[in-house]
Amino acid sequence: MTELLFRGATVYTPDGPGEFDVTVSDGVITSVGPRGSGRGKAVDVSGNWLLPGGIDVHVHSRDPGFPDKEDFGTLTAAAAAGGVTTVVDMPNTVPAVDSAGALESKAALARSRSRVDFGLWALIRSTSTAEQLVELASAGAVGFKAYLGYSFSVSRKQVLHALDASDPDLEAPPDYGTLTRLAPAIAELGLPLVIHAEDPGILHAFRRPFETYEDVLEARPAEAESVAISATASVARQHDIHLHIAHVSSALGLQAAEEAIAAGTRLTLETCPQYLWRTEADFARLGTAMKMNPPVRRASDQQALRDALRREVISVVATDHAPHTDDEKAQDLEHAPPGTPGVQTLYLSCLELARHMGDPWLAARWVSEGPAALAGLSESKGRIAPGYDADLVVVDPKQSTTFNPKAMRSRQKHGALQGLKVSFAITSVYLRGVPIYANGRLSTRSTGRMVRPAGIPIA
Ligand code: NCD
Ligand code: ZN
Repeated sequence: MTELLFRGATVYTPDGPGEFDVTVSDGVITSVGPRGSGRGKAVDVSGNWLLPGGIDVHVHSRDPGFPDKEDFGTLTAAAAAGGVTTVVDMPNTVPAVDSAGALESKAALARSRSRVDFGLWALIRSTSTAEQLVELASAGAVGFKAYLGYSFSVSRKQVLHALDASDPDLEAPPDYGTLTRLAPAIAELGLPLVIHAEDPGILHAFRRPFETYEDVLEARPAEAESVAISATASVARQHDIHLHIAHVSSALGLQAAEEAIAAGTRLTLETCPQYLWRTEADFARLGTAMKMNPPVRRASDQQALRDALRREVISVVATDHAPHTDDEKAQDLEHAPPGTPGVQTLYLSCLELARHMGDPWLAARWVSEGPAALAGLSESKGRIAPGYDADLVVVDPKQSTTFNPKAMRSRQKHGALQGLKVSFAITSVYLRGVPIYANGRLSTRSTGRMVRPAGIPIA
């Protein structure tokens, strides 16, 4: 048995921060008690903060499929350096995760390279069957993701941004009909349904070439988000499904979500640091590093999102870490693919925002506790408490960090938050009691395990 004693830190517990000793045995927290009460091999973290490991429930590893953009090794190196000890990967890898077999192969690959724990979302296609969803759940899917308006290439097994399905190889996107048809199966499984909430009809009506950033905003209006949220919420409510809205970007989308919650929908909301920190005004400086779907919008949207976090209407901050190569991103606004990396800057950017709001500890709720609940991990992760995995982040509140492309571990170095200065630094990170990052260095071992939501029988 390896017994560790973290001493000297201010520890964020579910009841708030305090001066505690934390003991860990075989990767699990065994006690959180008064100073001087614990035993074990001492880890001196005096003067620092001890926080629960981050759980980024929205990352795109690109693995398998596009190793030039990213793979599980580089994704999770970035995660580890940023205090994210669990990533939950989106299913638009290639082949897409639309069957138990595809999920199992992806899990095997991720196990071989992942430096942090990982979970996997499963894909809903317009042709998915209830039986496939049951099999995906037994194979360990954390939940289901539907990309409204994204077609599917049957020969390439790939989710595509294309809106027109005139190509016979392209299968129609999942729509409200697909979700209504599959809702009873999702309800029975009890797993969350995540949607990329942009209504394809609205996107179609506003299509235009992108010359300026204003064109991007006009082509993807906030109504696309609010309509998609209202419509899917109506289906979810009818079937008592847990609906989770990925990357909420607008005040209007938020309003639709709040109306749905008031009407009794089991709905959780996620937003991303890029929507909380950036506005259209940043495009002139950041260029295509800021091109993503949905787009970064106006200052009034940013304000509404920050306000919803403060009111705890938004319970999850995740990154939508979606790297592309430099060459791809160097294309013009029209042709550069949407998506930006972010997993490495999630925790620190949230600590900084929470500090601005007057309580930096709120960050642990947004990036750890809230996400653990979404992913069905509330019994094992997301808290510093006895019985929980010893996924721990040591933060120095006296050191600052400026997000610099050179320090990024992801293959794509240029994220939407580059240049942001925060008044914290991550000094070390532990995954189930094992140090995976310390003072700028990653441990070389890949120790990540697959996580599965509690309560789903293993096939
Ligand atoms: C994502 C990607 O590149 O996989 N891009 C993005 O702009 N967010 C797709 C997605 O999450 O919609
Ligand atoms: Zn995404």
